[in-house]
Amino acid sequence: MNSMFMNIAHRGASQYAPENTMAAFYKSLEMGANGLETDLRKSKDGVIILHHDEQLERTTNGTGRPSDYTWKQLQMLDAGSWFSEMYRGERLVSFDTFLYVFGGKPIHLALEMKESGIENEVIQILKEHEELMEKVTITSFDFEILQTIRQRHDSVRLGHLVRQWDEEHLKRLQEIGVIQICPPAETVTPEGVRLLKQHGFEVRAWKVVNESMMKHCLRSGVDGMTINYPDKLNDALQSN
Ligand code: G3P
Ligand code: CA
Repeated sequence: MNSMFMNIAHRGASQYAPENTMAAFYKSLEMGANGLETDLRKSKDGVIILHHDEQLERTTNGTGRPSDYTWKQLQMLDAGSWFSEMYRGERLVSFDTFLYVFGGKPIHLALEMKESGIENEVIQILKEHEELMEKVTITSFDFEILQTIRQRHDSVRLGHLVRQWDEEHLKRLQEIGVIQICPPAETVTPEGVRLLKQHGFEVRAWKVVNESMMKHCLRSGVDGMTINYPDKLNDALQSN
């Protein structure tokens, strides 16, 4: 899986379709992405869902937090019309459905733990899908969440979202078997990437805000990017 450059669609092709919806995920694969990034949160009744923000307002017609509602209630929300009228009727997606639909495809699945307190449910679902472990990477900004995941699952790939790091931090990450470092693109340098690779980490950049940043990351030698416009990254990779 990892020999190819990771063109990971950030919440799907979120520049072109409402983030974290089936429309955005399908569109990104049509555009040449070879991976999907998404965000995990929990409903009131313990269903893991794909949703970025703490609140529902920005990307649905709901109010409050996902955890204020049951999955049945959340499924009634419109998660598409905020983006464009043509996406009216797009729904929130459960983690189960996401794995069921995309788990069979030869793509990376980058799953970001957006909150603590969901580790048990996420682990339970992962254990039901052991056959997907080669393509799944659990990521988080929070070291303790990664630590908890590792304690409960000894082989799932772990990635750490970091704004800065030093040798000591890298050592702690290695101790729990983190294999991927995800720095924001603005902090990426060729020297930093080289150092991380020397430590044995994969490097996947995120927050790639424009094409010049995308090219900078490519020149710096990263192994992949999480990107809102996988078509442009695909074009750049093809022309290399
Ligand atoms: O891939 C990392 C990136 O998704 C982290 O930031 O805010 O888009 O979840 P955010
Ligand atoms: Ca994310």
